[in-house]
Amino acid sequence: MEENVLNEAIEIPIDDDPNSFRHLNNPADGIKPIVKKYLNPPKAVEQTGNKFYFTDGEAKVEAIVVTNEIIRIRLAPHGVFLEDFSYAIPKDVKPIKSEFTLIETADEYRISTTSINCHISKKNFYIAFSDKNEYVTSVDSTSMHWEENAQFGGYYVYGSKVCHPDETFFGLGDKPTELNLRGKRFTNWNTDAYSYSWGQDPLYRTIPFYVSVNEGIAHGIFFDNTFKSHFDFGLQQSDSTSFWADGGEMQYYYIHGPHIMDVVKRYHVITGTHPMPPMWALGYHQCRWSYYPETKLRAVTKGFRANKIPCDGIYLDIDYMDGYRCFTWNRKYFPDPKKMIADLAADGFKTVVIIDPGIRVDDSYEIFREGKEKKYFCRRCDDYFMEGHVWPGRCQFPDFTNPEVRTWWGGLFDELVEMGVAGVWNDMNEPAVFGAGTFPDDVRHQYDGHRGSHRKAHNVYGMQMVRATYEGLRKLMKNKRPFTITRAGYSGLQRYASVWTGDNVASWEHLAIGNIQCQRLSMSGVPFCGTDIGGFSGEPDGELFTRWIQLGTFSPFMRAHSAGDTKEREPWSFGEPFTSINRKFIELRYRLLPYLYSTFWEHHRYGFPILRPVVMQEQHVLKNHYRQDEFTYGDKLLICPVLHPGQTSRKVYLPKGKWYNFWDNTVVEGGDEVEVATPLDTIPLFVKAGSVIPEYPVQQYVGEKEIEEVKLNIYYSDYEANSFMFEDYGETFAYEQDIYLEKKFAVNGTEADFVIQQSLEGLYNPRYENYAFSIVGLPFRPLNIMIDNKWVTNFTFINNKLEFRHNKKFHTVKIMK
Ligand code: GLC
Repeated sequence: MEENVLNEAIEIPIDDDPNSFRHLNNPADGIKPIVKKYLNPPKAVEQTGNKFYFTDGEAKVEAIVVTNEIIRIRLAPHGVFLEDFSYAIPKDVKPIKSEFTLIETADEYRISTTSINCHISKKNFYIAFSDKNEYVTSVDSTSMHWEENAQFGGYYVYGSKVCHPDETFFGLGDKPTELNLRGKRFTNWNTDAYSYSWGQDPLYRTIPFYVSVNEGIAHGIFFDNTFKSHFDFGLQQSDSTSFWADGGEMQYYYIHGPHIMDVVKRYHVITGTHPMPPMWALGYHQCRWSYYPETKLRAVTKGFRANKIPCDGIYLDIDYMDGYRCFTWNRKYFPDPKKMIADLAADGFKTVVIIDPGIRVDDSYEIFREGKEKKYFCRRCDDYFMEGHVWPGRCQFPDFTNPEVRTWWGGLFDELVEMGVAGVWNDMNEPAVFGAGTFPDDVRHQYDGHRGSHRKAHNVYGMQMVRATYEGLRKLMKNKRPFTITRAGYSGLQRYASVWTGDNVASWEHLAIGNIQCQRLSMSGVPFCGTDIGGFSGEPDGELFTRWIQLGTFSPFMRAHSAGDTKEREPWSFGEPFTSINRKFIELRYRLLPYLYSTFWEHHRYGFPILRPVVMQEQHVLKNHYRQDEFTYGDKLLICPVLHPGQTSRKVYLPKGKWYNFWDNTVVEGGDEVEVATPLDTIPLFVKAGSVIPEYPVQQYVGEKEIEEVKLNIYYSDYEANSFMFEDYGETFAYEQDIYLEKKFAVNGTEADFVIQQSLEGLYNPRYENYAFSIVGLPFRPLNIMIDNKWVTNFTFINNKLEFRHNKKFHTVKIMK
């Protein structure tokens, strides 16, 4: 089948329209005539291990078998590849065993692994990928091409794939538009986008990775190029998907499916996953620009405890610094920060401080002096310093692409760590510069020895800043997990930080945008994400704030934040009934902590995204590719936010199968839309039948209570249900040494015997010994209940709900079949 596709010349008009492709985005370049060069038919192939080199006589194409499901393609227009270096791919990614063969036929070269084939057409150098059934998942619509860049050297590089009539696209990070990217064009250039609007592009991050689904089969393309890059999903030509960049190499990874989940997991195989966060970071965070002076900050933290609203993270925005100089304190506002942080910690609050990259030009400021002496600041092409205005006034900027600078920066957190700071918020790292927007293109970067201009380093600058921060904190905090958050980033940033979606607006539209952005970030390899709850600029009313808290309860990162010129924005600021509802949801967040934490582990260990849009559950149903309100958190809870004021009910789509309404335990059959009541104190929340949802008692902060009992909520199904729970110390890296516990629960129920078994993996021993069981939806009253081979005799059965306590530790047993 693929032979036909490969041998059929697909006629796509050559792109010579000056308003198209990069010219649309770089009007300044529009004056140059376009001389695009295309690959000629390949003449020869050479193989060295898992690397294959094809040449048309001058240009070379490299194909590397990365794994059985991932192949990397690179193009060298004149046969010379750049040194192989990527910030997205950590050096310590272990080579994964793959098996491959190269076959040459009259029409093509074909590299085959145990899962996929990569075809290089001898006729036109088009590259295609197919699966074991010879089903072609991806094929070029024109051969890779390029254009010389006379001003900077190098090339503008282009790749184009056939776009099928029903093909849909997902990914690309934080784009504030429909979840499905079909028919749209995007640019990646990290941008400080204050109060951005629907459809605005680009925003803060560059994640040049997308997932395509066609005829129910998914594959991914990761275009690992840090220059300004562009994607067109069938906008310019409905039958072509293109990606191109203003420099660097045409270098992409084909990532095989067939499920979207496979693609996302495999993307994480190459770019890494998020480390386990400290458990408190999954609690509620309260932020504001800015809480100062100290009395104000203490009043806010007291407010949480007085109102009995749980909270873990408390933030210091830029006003804690002396004249916005990083690593200093404004002693007028905060006379004794160490004592303050210790007092807050004693009350369960973890202090997170902001850091910006701009260092004030000021010879009396030690950090500036040191950076200047050691030549750590970025310079222009003619050796002048890169200077620009940010919060502190005139600033210079560390070159975070220099490993020595990263080490220096990481070490600068020593005093803050010593004072007890638990997390660092990395802001303005696109990098943002007032007026100019960002650095000029000619700024030079060390780029870990692969020097380049800002054109190459811009999109990784923020990621390298937060990497420096994370790595520094990791050293300074010894075995404690640091918490970091960043605004800007590039693919792979998940190895170093969580993200928030930047300066959003207090509007219903932004609530919807944030919902989509978080799902998109999750599918794009950035799992730990959240929005400024309530909206950064503007004023939410109580209803909007509460609806946002409800969505935030199911955002991996849950933080309220607001600009300085807005009214107070704490969960009790809007009075009743809002305070009580906000409390109820934040408490729910804390009750679900063991579930959220286990879901995080699933991400960390296996590369699963935390939030999963409906298309991930049912990718074979085309209409689901256009749904963007509902999502699951992990695979057991389905959430659908309420996105309009005064809404008393809304339609929710439930994927096939049985679901329990979380609020009243009624059972709903999935596979269709259902109308769900949405009074202000609930949002549509469903639990998949067959789930075991672990629950902690409500705490005012993580660690407030010694957990003495975990509740296991079992949602009965008539098939064997499997669930798992992850536990460990919650704040150390001991899990890297297998000190953790993965508990798998298997529940098998019949009227005669109801059997719950668990099996354990790992070396951690939780302190508690008690479980409270709540089994809902039972169509019968069981005669016997057996837990890990022991009979339970004391149980109550009311309204199809079975409840009992089990006060002996489960025994370690294998699941019985
Ligand atoms: C930027 C950040 C915002 C922060 C402000 C002051 O606008 O996005 O979150 O509060 O700067 O530091």
